[in-house]
Formats: sequence, structure tokens, C-alpha cells
Amino acid sequence: MNQRSNFTSKIGFVLAAAGSAVGLGNLWRFPYLAAQHGGGTFLLVYLILAVTFGFALMIAEIAIGRKTGLSAIGAFKALDKRFGFLGVLASAVPIIILPYYCVIGGWVSKFFATYAISGAQLVAEHTVINGKELAFFQVFVSKIGEPIGWFCLFVGLTAIIVLFGVEKGIEKVSKVMMPILVVLTVGIAAYVVTRPSALEGVIYYLKPNFKNFSITTIFAAMGQLFYSMSLAMGIMVTYGSYMKKENHLESSVRQIELFDTAIAFSAGLMIVPAAYSSIVNGQTKPGPTLMFITLPEVFKEMPMGSLIGAVFFLLVFLAALTSSISLMETIVSIVLDKTKFGRKTACIIVTAFTLLVGIPSALGFNIWSHIRPLGLDDILTFFDFVSNSVMMPIIAFFTCVIIGFIIKPKAIVDEVKATDGTFKSEKLFTVMIKWIAPVFILGILCFSVAEGMGWITV
Ligand code: TRP
Repeated sequence: MNQRSNFTSKIGFVLAAAGSAVGLGNLWRFPYLAAQHGGGTFLLVYLILAVTFGFALMIAEIAIGRKTGLSAIGAFKALDKRFGFLGVLASAVPIIILPYYCVIGGWVSKFFATYAISGAQLVAEHTVINGKELAFFQVFVSKIGEPIGWFCLFVGLTAIIVLFGVEKGIEKVSKVMMPILVVLTVGIAAYVVTRPSALEGVIYYLKPNFKNFSITTIFAAMGQLFYSMSLAMGIMVTYGSYMKKENHLESSVRQIELFDTAIAFSAGLMIVPAAYSSIVNGQTKPGPTLMFITLPEVFKEMPMGSLIGAVFFLLVFLAALTSSISLMETIVSIVLDKTKFGRKTACIIVTAFTLLVGIPSALGFNIWSHIRPLGLDDILTFFDFVSNSVMMPIIAFFTCVIIGFIIKPKAIVDEVKATDGTFKSEKLFTVMIKWIAPVFILGILCFSVAEGMGWITV
């Protein structure tokens, strides 16, 4: 086996994994899902899942990587030959995510440019078209060429960086960027929360109301957990393969989770209360566009709104870019492993594929808005649903099975204990991975399939 390079320090490992975890999932996806699924109810379900289920799965994935020293495709095969397909399935997830991720990256780029050039007033403007009042964002996505142009730009940028491999530079950028992102998110959230009209929205976001609870809440929260923490797609296995034995796995996982959840929580605090009144009035239906419609209203009212808007979207842009780079890098390395192509050819193939598959997601907001696969709102939501709510639970289920019943939880426990003999949540981990998690995922999967097929209705 060739010598793997290692992260030099524990903090280096935690930051790199957190850099992969923090992205559009926290800033864009979490707030709109929370708004859709009953605010506080969603938050509570998400937090419970994060400290039990997410914790167990992240421990498992990183431990598998560190134990085998291999990335996903090889690692699962090394554990048990029959489970090689799991690595392949996990690798398919980034391939589905990357194209639509870049579509949103394009929207973010457009917003950054508009804040920087024209200021906060323009972005908050509404235009009446055919008697309907449309937000700046809605007018933007209803055009055909412009969103696709920004999408291509974003893909191009990602591809150039992946091609030249300036990951070292990216790492430095992340180190500066992450703290600023945290400060800014917390600052904007504090501003939103202290507005006189915010109280009801804040209560909606923080206080669970079980009237809002349904099984789809759990389903959505679980999909979000996988997405946000980059689980069930082989990423954390790969990161684990670079981790040293001296670094304590359990406390690293705690730190990554805390960081990721804190950012998602503040992003929700910044968007959900601000959107609350228009959601209650029925003016806004929370969905993928929420961040782009609600936040401009906040920035318009804020002192120095144009500057804050520009800085905010610049940071979202950078967070999205670092994530899209590691998504593309993952796919490129799969192509490199499986074919004889060189790095340049592999990059070109992946870029062409991303462009081709991403365009329908962009068109789903204008000329193809009538296409609603599986009855979902739009094509982008469809890709998001298939990867997060169907494929990732399947992968997570089999990961639990392979650990619980084939290699046995003890193998992972020993790997965690390899550092200094301690594993505080050993019991929790063992019970979760062997019994609770797989049963739970299977139940939810059956339910969603049954619902999708129209066998049951909620
Ligand atoms: N977790 C990232 C986010 O919250 C998205 C993501 C999923 C990702 N899988 C990834 C990023 C793999 C990098 C690599 O936005």
C-alpha cells in the first residue's frame, strides 16, 4: 500500500472535515427545511438525530477510513467483498449533487456581484409581471440565459481550481474565511432577532410545536443531517484514511458536529424569523429560493446593508466553492482510479457532465417549470431528493449492517480506542449502529417509498 499523507494535527483534521461539512447545506438548505417543517419541531428532531445517529455514523465512517487506509470504494471492499457495491453507490452521490450544487453556486455568485455593484436596494426590489409581484430573485431565475451563464462560470471556476490543484491555497483561504463566516452569521442573526417584529418568528423557530410534527419531518431532518455533515457518500471515509492514530476520533467528531450544527442553527436564526411573517401570510412558500428572497429584505433595512450583503454573499460563495471543489475532486479521483485517463481529461469529462446535468436544474425554474418529477416542486428539488432522501439512507443502512453484523461494532470501537484507550459514548455507539439506526432508517425508507407510490397518504 502506498504511504498516505497525514493531517499534521488534530485541529488540521477537524478544520478540513468541517470545511467540507460547512457549505450551502448549512446556509441555504437548513433554514428553508426548518421553515418548511414546522420550525422548532424540525430543529429539535435534527438536534436529537445529530447527537445520536449522526454521531454514530460519522464515527463509523472515519474509523473505517482510518482502519483500512483507503477511500470509500476500496474501503468497503476491504471490509467485506460482498459490500463493494456500497462504495460504488456512495461514490454516485457526489456525482448527483455536484451539478445542482453549482446551479445554486451560480445564484450566489450573481447575488454577490449585484450587491457589490448595485447595492441592497436593487436586490430587494419587486417587479410586477403579468399582475404578479415578483422578487428580484424570481425575475432572475425566470430568465433562461443568465442563470445558466452564472452556473457555467461557477462550474468553470471549480474546474480550474481542481485542474491546477491549488488545494493548499484553498486550505489557507478556508482558515481565514471560516471564522469571518461565523462572526457574520452570528452578527446578522443577532440583528434579525432583535428587530421588534421578530419575536413570533423566533418562537416559531425555537419552540417545538407537535402539531407540526409528521413522519416527513424525521425524513427531511435525516436527509439534511447526511447532506450537511457530508455523510453516507464516502467523504468521511476518505478523510478518515488521512487521519493519524494519535488523534482522538471521538472528540474530533464531536467538534466537527458542533461546528457544523452551530452554523446551521445561526443560519436558521437569521432567515426563519425574517421570513416568518410572509410565510404565515402565505406570500412565501419556503423552498430552495428562501435565502435569496428573505435575506435581501433584511439587508435593505440594515445600516450598511449593501456592504454587509456583499460580504455575506462573498462568504457563502467561498463556502460553496470550497465544497464544490471537494465534490468535483472526489469525482475526478474516481475517474482517475477507474480509467486510464489523465487528470486533465478526467477534469474535462467531469466538467462536461456537470454542465450537461446541471442545465436541466436551472431550466426547471423557467421553461421547464412544468416538469415535476415524482410530483416534487422542480427538477433541482428532484435531484436533491433522490440523493439525500433515497440514496443516502440506503447507504447509511448498509453501513450499519456491515458494522453491526459483519465486522461487528467492536472493530470500530477498537479503532476509536486506538488513541488512548477511551471511548466515552461506546454504549451509545454500539446500540445505535447495530439496532436503532438501521431499524429506523429502514422504517423511514419504506414509508417514503410507500408514500411516493401513493400506497399511503399523510
Ligand atoms: N456538506 C456540504 C454542505 O453542507 C455539502 C456536501 C455534501 C459536500 N457532500 C459533500 C461538500 C462532499 C464537500 C464534499 O454544503
